Amino acid sequence: MKQKGIDTFLGKRVWVIGASSGIGHACAKALLSAGAKVAISSRRMEQLHQLAGSASTEQVLALPVDVIHESQITQAHQIILERWGGLDLLLFVSGMYLPMRADDFDITLAEKTINTNLLGPMRAVAAVLPAMLTKHAGHIAIVGSVAGYSGLPKALAYGPSKAGIINFCETLYYDLLPRGVSVHMISPGFVATEATAQNDFEMPALMTPEQAAQEILQGIQAGEFDIHFPKRFSGFLKLLRILPYPLYFWIVRRFVKI
Ligand SMILES: NC(=O)c1ccc[n+]([C@@H]2O[C@H](COP(=O)([O-])OP(=O)(O)OC[C@H]3O[C@@H](n4cnc5c(N)ncnc54)[C@H](OP(=O)(O)O)[C@@H]3O)[C@@H](O)[C@H]2O)c1
Repeated sequence: MKQKGIDTFLGKRVWVIGASSGIGHACAKALLSAGAKVAISSRRMEQLHQLAGSASTEQVLALPVDVIHESQITQAHQIILERWGGLDLLLFVSGMYLPMRADDFDITLAEKTINTNLLGPMRAVAAVLPAMLTKHAGHIAIVGSVAGYSGLPKALAYGPSKAGIINFCETLYYDLLPRGVSVHMISPGFVATEATAQNDFEMPALMTPEQAAQEILQGIQAGEFDIHFPKRFSGFLKLLRILPYPLYFWIVRRFVKI
């Protein structure tokens, strides 16, 4: 049994949460070019209005959302349903990254990270799922990270938030496959965005947001559950996580110099 893909984005109703910059911005732009109707959300409205540009309000809806507030998510979803009568794809991209090690562990920042990166997608899924289940149709795509595969340096709060996304998506997939709703778990490697601009080390296999968007949208179209890229980097990290711990930690200490 294989989950459904999307033959064309033309006319599809898509909600991109986290569309104001980086990967989400590039996805929204590509979707608009492909003729989708795109609702774009995040906190910075100025960026969203710029992205909407001269597109008609029939094609693009800029809806403010802070993903830590459930009410803002449900209100925006309600507007989408009223305007477009339904939603074909939820693409949740929003996320925050604060490098953190054990010697500067900050519980307030850790809570904020989990609230945004893990509870944020859960809130959005809770909002869209009932209508998708009723229709036995729809797609839920969530951007996690290869940092969720296994413990890595400087990812003391970010890593667990993304590891949670992997488990959440796996469990959703298990439940939703027989119900006609597709789930896409997206695990990017390094992408050059505002989030990674703070990194003070050389990022291996760095991609542009446009390349990342292409991988994401192609994967969704093909109905893939596990969308990870670039393969030479994500494939290597997938291999690392099946190694015995002593070997895994030895390799990370030896080769990850950050
Ligand atoms: N860049 C990478 O190398 C990389 C690798 C793996 C995974 N990722 C993941 O990819 C996603 C996008 O990151 P990016 O690299 O494109 O970074 P980015 O340019 O910093 O974009 C982050 C997006 O998340 C939104 N956001 C943050 N907090 C939010 C909140 N509370 N409510 C609503 N939206 C919020 C931001 O919008 P506002 O500030 O306008 O709210 C922005 O649109 C994240 O989930 C990140 O973890 C990135």
